[in-house]
Amino acid sequence: MAEAVYPVSAEWARDALIDEGRYREMYERSVSDPESFWREEAQRVDWMRPFTVVKQTSFHEDDFGISWFTDGTLNLSANCLDRHLAARGEEIAILWEADDPSTPERRITYRQLHEQVCRFANLLKSKGVRKGERVTIYLPMVPEAAVAMLACARIGAIHSIVFAGFSPEALAGRITDCDSRIVLTADEGLRGGKKIPLKTNVDEALKECACVDTVIVLAHTGADVHMEDGRDCDWASAAEGQSAECEPAEMNAEDPLFILYTSGSTGKPKGVLHTTGGYAVWASMTHEYVFDYKPGQIFWCAADVGWVTGHSYVVYGPLMNGATTVMFEGVPNHPDPSRFWQIVDKFGVEIFYAAPTALRSLMREGDEWVRKTSRKSLRLLGSVGEPINPEAWGWYHEVVGEGRCPIVDTWWQTETGGVMISPLPGATALKPGSATRPMFGVQPRLLDSDGREIDGAGDGCLVITDSWPGQMRTVWGDHERFFQTYFSTFKGAYFTGDGCRRDEDGYYWITGRIDDVINVSGHRLGTAEVESALVAHAKVAEAAVVGMPHDIKGQGIYAFVTTNAEVEPDEDLRKALVAWVRHEIGPIATPDVIQFTPALPKTRSGKIMRRILRKIGENDVSNLGDTSTLADPSVVDSLIANRPQPA
Ligand code: WTA
Repeated sequence: MAEAVYPVSAEWARDALIDEGRYREMYERSVSDPESFWREEAQRVDWMRPFTVVKQTSFHEDDFGISWFTDGTLNLSANCLDRHLAARGEEIAILWEADDPSTPERRITYRQLHEQVCRFANLLKSKGVRKGERVTIYLPMVPEAAVAMLACARIGAIHSIVFAGFSPEALAGRITDCDSRIVLTADEGLRGGKKIPLKTNVDEALKECACVDTVIVLAHTGADVHMEDGRDCDWASAAEGQSAECEPAEMNAEDPLFILYTSGSTGKPKGVLHTTGGYAVWASMTHEYVFDYKPGQIFWCAADVGWVTGHSYVVYGPLMNGATTVMFEGVPNHPDPSRFWQIVDKFGVEIFYAAPTALRSLMREGDEWVRKTSRKSLRLLGSVGEPINPEAWGWYHEVVGEGRCPIVDTWWQTETGGVMISPLPGATALKPGSATRPMFGVQPRLLDSDGREIDGAGDGCLVITDSWPGQMRTVWGDHERFFQTYFSTFKGAYFTGDGCRRDEDGYYWITGRIDDVINVSGHRLGTAEVESALVAHAKVAEAAVVGMPHDIKGQGIYAFVTTNAEVEPDEDLRKALVAWVRHEIGPIATPDVIQFTPALPKTRSGKIMRRILRKIGENDVSNLGDTSTLADPSVVDSLIANRPQPA
């Protein structure tokens, strides 16, 4: 079957910032003369002291290093706020929609946001927060989350946001890893009508974190929460007394901006570190070009600020570009599956950006929930976080966008800071399921497992051969792990962990992770993390976790568990283990299937054969490949015979 192609409409080609000719010209220049390309592109930032050096980067072990605009100085909060005050101080920066539709929305102008950020920055200073210090943020999707981020950026503190769906355990691990002295949180979060006990979670986490001496608590739902004397203070009353002026700190381009923990194929989540100048250029450039953003447009990225998508496209990218950014506290199907589209109508959203998992969950509810809303303001749709299957793409395009809105399927990662491969709506003919072509400066290559480059059409491991400004700079506290994780698999290249196909037109099709990372509802999880949570349970001897196909989540979690000898596994234990993992990591890590087994398939040297477990997880057991190296091949037959049916 020939694949569908959706050419750029005449209107988009005419009105967009970048048409096909310009894309080709700019892309060519960005890779043949990066110095001049980035020198120009970086002018979108207001520098305090202009840089003279553009790029000093090497992915090779002997002279490994990544720095951009090194001798320039800037302040990112000033770039998001102060510089807009003269021209658009009274325009809306943040449009906030609450979880409960009957709660009034909040409209915060650039001037008001500037004032709130200054007050909060002064509050942080009064608590002794200094340049370079880590501030942990554990907040729901409320404007104060953006205020907190920008306040950190204003004084040069490094923010580390922990998604409010993570458990106290997971929070404690992240606080300790970056040695954070201060935590910002709320009494409770609200999602889909359910309350999330954030402050209680923080109290629980802090039993394990000796480093924290200050907690600032936002009264969001008004719940009565424990306040620890001498440690906890109320956000509003503490901020109120602060001055509304706060001079932005002069930061070097390579000073850290934030840490964001993300899952890898081994060990604990790693603290991805982004720095200031390059990230600013990348977030703002990609936001402008990928979404064809023009001043005055209402932009809605439906991601949580706890993920990188929220960092770059709810807060930094849009605010740098002076946009009105929508922030939504709730979930797509509460109180009913029309909610997204009602918000689109309420605010006149023109650009809407979401994850395929949300679209698939809405698609299954039927078209009438969409059709009863107008959506006439929409002009562009975006997708992020996981491959979008052609059915969901088609539904998004035909039902949500009524055939008139291009879809930008954006491939990127926490590590890349912003979009790396994506259509540009005025330049790129679309193919459902393909992230299409590289962003400026991005040089993707496909390698086979021996590291040989695949030319033309083919399938391989996706690597990037040169640096781009938004690239992460290190793993917090473990620079060696940074090099080992990303630059040691293939010499001289950044290894993405993704598999990818390139077609005859040079379009890229991401096929999914090829390491032990799974993508559950657009959220990254390391199978190793779920395994270590399981084996931490007193009744579990051993566990192996793999991904399995899941209609809504994209991938689900399939866990093989061996219990301790004296334990008889049963339904009660299964439920207890599910609850345990949720408690250890958070609801996103809920196992979909737990299969108890007396043994796992291992090689004679004792290595678990994950390849076989993946096949069983996928229920694709017709061709298991070579099993001759197994110590006991009968283990596999018994696993297949006893495979439970997913609920
Ligand atoms: C996957 C999210 C296919 C990919 C921004 C990547 C995608 C991982 C796409 C990063 C896409 C992200 N098509 N796969 N458009 N976007 N991915 O760090 O496997 O949470 O490596 O960043 O998500 O997830 P992360």
